[in-house]
Parts: sequence; structure tokens; C-alpha cells
Amino acid sequence: MRLRKLGKQVSLAGQRVLFRFDGNVPIEKGRAVDGPHGRIARAAVDLDWLIQRGARVVAMTHLGRPDGKRRSAYSLKPVAKRLSSLLGIKVPVSSALTGSRVERLVSSLKNGQVLLLENLRFDPREEKNDKTFAQELARLGDLYVNDAFAVNHRAHTSVQALAQELPAYAGFLLENEIAVLSQSIERARHPFVLVMGGLKVETKLPVMEHLAAQVDVILVGGALATTFAVADGKAVGRSVYDKEAVEVIRYLSKSLRQKILLPEDVVVASSLRKDAKTHVALADQVGAKDRIVDIGPKTIARFEQEIKRAKMVVWNGPLGYCEIGAFCRGSEKIAQAIAHRTGAATTIVGGGDTGPVLERLKLADRFTLLSTGGGAMLDFLAGHSLPGLEPLER
Ligand code: 3PG
Repeated sequence: MRLRKLGKQVSLAGQRVLFRFDGNVPIEKGRAVDGPHGRIARAAVDLDWLIQRGARVVAMTHLGRPDGKRRSAYSLKPVAKRLSSLLGIKVPVSSALTGSRVERLVSSLKNGQVLLLENLRFDPREEKNDKTFAQELARLGDLYVNDAFAVNHRAHTSVQALAQELPAYAGFLLENEIAVLSQSIERARHPFVLVMGGLKVETKLPVMEHLAAQVDVILVGGALATTFAVADGKAVGRSVYDKEAVEVIRYLSKSLRQKILLPEDVVVASSLRKDAKTHVALADQVGAKDRIVDIGPKTIARFEQEIKRAKMVVWNGPLGYCEIGAFCRGSEKIAQAIAHRTGAATTIVGGGDTGPVLERLKLADRFTLLSTGGGAMLDFLAGHSLPGLEPLER
């Protein structure tokens, strides 16, 4: 895939650049949760590049799902604060997304200054890929940069329609994620180990099916594995699983099923609380009141064994209930095993929940690619074309 890149040929001094990044990070107590390898931090590197070249930047992102309404809990003020501290300049927020008020603010920007528009999803037209909204936004810029890989699977106004209104370029972060992902998959090294966790089967199964011929083994954990267990007629007690997907799993092809390795043992808890009693059970001996919260030690060892000999590993989705630290042990061990292979193997990890775990373990920079994408990475790996990339293709 050849994308139009922000290269030397684009002269940026004094240009108004509409910069779409993905600043969709958790907000806790009014602060953006974003480590040194977080989504905002990584977009800031490219923002800084634009600033250094004298661009006048109008930065844009969504945050959460406010359903087209202005809701203070979804305000971008914490994101602006994080950007300000990363860039070392004040990044003000324009509460107006379009219209004369924000147009005035943009025209008063000096070279190297940044203005952040409020949450794009405060306008119901953002999620409708709306041409009028795109044209109103386009009045704020001379060119458009898409650096938001994580939202490129959405045909939303700021991702797709807007790119058709202005000269449009791929930012460096986006370009790098696409290059690493596509080159790795095109030239897959073997053994190729796919590790899948999390809950939603509908986003993971297409990846397994699309990559079925290339992968050598698929290690499955998390609620995804529990759904497989239910499909196979095993008791799972009170565990969380994807009820709607049970039937689909029953009809998976034999050749795909043969590549899937499910947990042989699991950690079960009496509740989803930090202080819950836990014990290890064989996967087919889960009690009626148990909740599966993690993969067990035998499974960890088995998964590690596969990863140790892999030449390529792709991982998406936690293998346990990582909201509680004690139930994240399996994911942590697997993260460490994958990080260990980097250098000897191509290692790609992604998923909204995975980043914070890796930051906590100080492993975030230990992979060939830590993708900012969750759903976008899965869609890309499932072979779907991403709506955001189409207008950037040369
Ligand atoms: C993500 O967090 O995966 C992206 O920001 C997209 O968010 P969305 O799933 O709400 O569209």
C-alpha cells in the first residue's frame, strides 16, 4: 500500500495543518491516562515535527462515545493538558468545532502554534461521514494529515470525508504502523504464532480466518477462550463469555480449529473483586459458582513454549481480566515472553487494553511494533480495507 507521505516536498511554514490524531485514552480523575508510549505521546512526536517546521496546527480527535452530544465528561481538556506538557507550549481548546468563532481563532494562530478542537464526536455529523461537516472543517486548514491509525477503521467525517476536501497526507505514526503491519503479514516468518484474547469474538474470528493459512498456531485466552469452551460443551460457571458467538464457533472449519490452542487450566475466582478467593482449575473442571479470570500456570508454560520458538508473534487482547492486577498474571507472562523474542522474531502487539499493561511492565518499547490500534489493527489483519486509508493512497 503506497500512501501519500508528508515529505520534504511539502513546505509547511505558515500553512494551516488539520492534524487528525487518536487521543482516545482513558480519563481518570480529570487526567488523561497516557504513558511515554501512549497514543497522545506518540502523536505529539509528529505534532512537534510540524511545529518545528512552522506549521499552524489545528489538532483534532474524538474521545469516547458521547453520542453526538456535548458532555463534559468527554471534554478534551485533559488531552490538551497532556499535549501542552509534552510539547512545552500551551495548547488551547476551541469549544466550537466549526464556524466563524473557531475560524477567527485559527486565523490568529502564529507559526508553530497549536489549537485543539473539542471532541469531534460532540457533533452528531462526525460519525456520519458528512460532506457538509467535512467542508466546514476544511475551512480551518490548507492541508490535512491523518495520523490516527487507531480510528482508521471508522468511515467518519474527520477520517474519510475530510481527506477528500484538502490535499491529504499520512502522518509518520500512521505510515509506520501500516508499513510494519503490511510488510510483516506479506512476508510472514515461521513459526507464526497468533495470540488472541479479550471478549468480542466478532472482531477476532475474522483475523483468525483471514490469517488461517499463514499462522502455525493460535493461542487463545481471555473470555474468547471461555466462549470456545462453551461451544465445546464445557461448564464455565459464572464466567463472562460472548453468548452470541457460541454457535459461530461450533461451525468453524476443522483446519482452523486444529491450529487453535485453548487453555488447559485456568485461574478461577469467587467474584470479580480484588479480594476474591482464587484457585487453579483444569479447564474442564470449572465449578458452577466459579468465574474464569486468567489462564493457569500450565497454559502459561505451554504458550511460552510456542512463543519461544516463534519467528513472528502477533498479539491482540488480554488473556485474563486485566482490570484487576492479580488476574493479569497470564497476560504479563505472555507479554514478557513476546518481548523476549524481539530481535529473533517480529513481534507485533496491539489493543486498547494492552498498552497500559505493557507500560506498567516497562515493556512498551520492547516490540517490533506496539500498535496504537485496537479495532483498527484487527480490521487490518482481517484483510478489510480501512476507510481512512483510501483517500491517502497514491
Ligand atoms: C479505539 O479506541 O479503538 C479508537 O479510538 C476507536 O474508537 P471507537 O471504537 O469508539 O470508534
